[in-house]
Amino acid sequence: AQVPLAPTPPMGWSSWNKFADKIDDKTIRAMADAMVATGLRDAGYVYVNIDDGWQGTRGPDGQIRPNASFPDMKALADYVHSKGLKLGIYSSPGPRTCAGFEGSYGHVRQDAQTFADWGVDYLKYDLCSGEYFYADADTVKRSYAEMGAALQATGRPFVYSLCEYGRFDVGSWGREVGGHLWRTTGDITDDYATMARIGFEKNGKPGHTGPNGFNDPDMLELGNGGMSDAEYTTHMTLWALSAAPLLMGHDLRLTPPAILRLLENREVIAVDQDAKGVQGKAVRKDGALEIWAKPLADGAVALALFNRGETNAKIEARAADAGFGAIRSARDLWRGQAVGADALTFDVPAHGAVMLRVEGK
Ligand code: DGJ
Repeated sequence: AQVPLAPTPPMGWSSWNKFADKIDDKTIRAMADAMVATGLRDAGYVYVNIDDGWQGTRGPDGQIRPNASFPDMKALADYVHSKGLKLGIYSSPGPRTCAGFEGSYGHVRQDAQTFADWGVDYLKYDLCSGEYFYADADTVKRSYAEMGAALQATGRPFVYSLCEYGRFDVGSWGREVGGHLWRTTGDITDDYATMARIGFEKNGKPGHTGPNGFNDPDMLELGNGGMSDAEYTTHMTLWALSAAPLLMGHDLRLTPPAILRLLENREVIAVDQDAKGVQGKAVRKDGALEIWAKPLADGAVALALFNRGETNAKIEARAADAGFGAIRSARDLWRGQAVGADALTFDVPAHGAVMLRVEGK
């Protein structure tokens, strides 16, 4: 069973997309500092997640020890907490993680207790090691349930992130094993084609998402430089419309101002974090143009107008797209301004998006 620790999609940062397994204590502390200095923490990004690459060897008692890049995990957790942030860590149900480090196989309860003793708040559990990666659905599910129970047995609250790439319909059993988010795809990369394929087509079944349990189409690439600002606008719009976890994956010390504006837009974040927890979906398609809708807790609807084409296009938002007979008011969330309810046709750049919040009459 699930502990209700993620009423809205988790927000934060993870080391993997930018640093892969080249991570250390200093970099994690620098990211915590940058999270505060940039205002990202105050915008809602609170988890600082160490992904694969922190592990050393086990001691004679079997206890996992960090490698030399992480001299003192408890001190690191204390530091992160002192900044008003939370610390995440990473392991695998197999004997080896995907990057070849020590996994939790045979040490599940012990590792959960070690993470709790260090003061960790979040675990990403990644299906690695051949025999596990290729295991059957029941074995995989059982291994996730085992860690879920072990985390709960520590008595410390852990957000639990399941990463089996959507191979075994994880959304249908993620809550049952204690999970709060579950990956729906293989890895994102910092290019429009991959991001769009995941965000538009591999973001999981909307019925599986809701408060405390969210489809996870993988971490954000904003700030890594491989997409245009229009493409990163689409990335952020899609993730917010999908109620996806917002886990940044770039070097926070080097966030271009335009990217910071995308990551910190309060009205867009509010759509992602809406209490109703609905995953939005496409309501109308016209060739390369797609209109998506996400009903919000207060009765308003977030609409996104996507241009997946290679040339600029005009897209009209209609009342019916939001399920309304008529629109009473509308806001353009990226521009941060009200727009006339009768003037809802927008120029949308190639690969770009417009995001609206509309109220019905
Ligand atoms: C595969 C996952 O999908 C990535 O997000 C990352 O955690 C790596 N494994 C780490 O090895």
